[in-house]
Amino acid sequence: MDIGKIRADFPALKEWTYLDNSFVGLIPRQVKEGYDEFIDEWVNLDIKGDRTILSGWLGKTNKLRGMVADFVGAMPHEIAFTMCTGAGINVVVNGISWEKGDNVVFPEWEHNPLDTTTLRRNGVEIRALKAKDGRTEVADLEKIVDDNTRLIEVSQVSYVNGFRFDLKEVADIAHEHGARVLVDATQALGVLVTDVGKDGVDFLSAAPYKYLMGPAGLAFLYVKEDALSELEPDRIGWKNQIWEGDRAEEPPEDNESAEKFEYGTIHFQGVYALEKSLEYINGIGMEAIEKRVLELSGYLWNEAHDLGNEMYTPEGTKSPIVSFFEPNASEVASKLMAEKVKVTGREAHGGHIRASPHFYNTKAEIDRLIERYRDIVS
Ligand SMILES: Cc1ncc(COP(=O)(O)O)c(C=O)c1O
Repeated sequence: MDIGKIRADFPALKEWTYLDNSFVGLIPRQVKEGYDEFIDEWVNLDIKGDRTILSGWLGKTNKLRGMVADFVGAMPHEIAFTMCTGAGINVVVNGISWEKGDNVVFPEWEHNPLDTTTLRRNGVEIRALKAKDGRTEVADLEKIVDDNTRLIEVSQVSYVNGFRFDLKEVADIAHEHGARVLVDATQALGVLVTDVGKDGVDFLSAAPYKYLMGPAGLAFLYVKEDALSELEPDRIGWKNQIWEGDRAEEPPEDNESAEKFEYGTIHFQGVYALEKSLEYINGIGMEAIEKRVLELSGYLWNEAHDLGNEMYTPEGTKSPIVSFFEPNASEVASKLMAEKVKVTGREAHGGHIRASPHFYNTKAEIDRLIERYRDIVS
């Protein structure tokens, strides 16, 4: 990995020590070129043959569907484009035919917890797993799962302190009880190698504007092939229903494809941008990215630990996110920002600083964060 060359692709790094990818990732100039390509095509009406501007956008979307599928180990017809992580989670929750007495299980610190109107209206019991010492262990999760559990939701990486689940273990527990597992992968994609097939995940929802260095306003949902028929689309529009005269015709082709959840025009400019993000990341390679980020975050954990602060991220967590307790978290984060060092300061859980490097960061930048932090709090 030629870090000097890579860093030149991220204009913001000239000015910033940017260690806040779990908040919003930086995008390289190549992704901006994707955005520009979309606008240039539209402004100049750059269409050829019988390709209209819309058919061009839809063609690009289907190409991206294949790229996203490859990226997470899925098949193209298992991918639906959505607006955000929460939109994909709602497709799953609203698409299941719930029965009174069903229950759902999730760790208490989920970013988009399964505590929804649909579930409450259907008399579904909501079971949240308490975190202990910064961990929500699979063994404790298993204790609150039973044969009435229909859905278990976990984040691949906790946005709070980077805690990670072994997705295969969670999926195995879910399947033993006839339940499905839904993964929020927004804090993982682009930094951890993800393979839905290998892990046996049923649903995965993710937004690309963090470590995937992609657009905001476009996201995707993976629905395992054998779960497609269990989910009814909760929203209807021109793309998944044809209404001719006085009756709805059979839905267009591919009813048994996740595309049935796409009901209208999507964020096509984001499609152009995400294609470039994936090309960029694939060009480096996910294994190499994961290795480098975990090295950097391991270094960061040790340095933060040496400050003497209590760590929120449990020791040994192999995660892109490192959090440590700091009672004046917001104020400290603002002071760091004034010095062009960007991390997140959260008041929740007694206050903590959350830092999250990406492959373009360096140990020298982590040293700068630690030094500036030490000066500010001393
Ligand atoms: C775990 C997790 N999921 C999802 C999101 C974003 O949700 P959405 O894409 O619905 O805006 C975040 C943002 O911080 C997050 O940390």
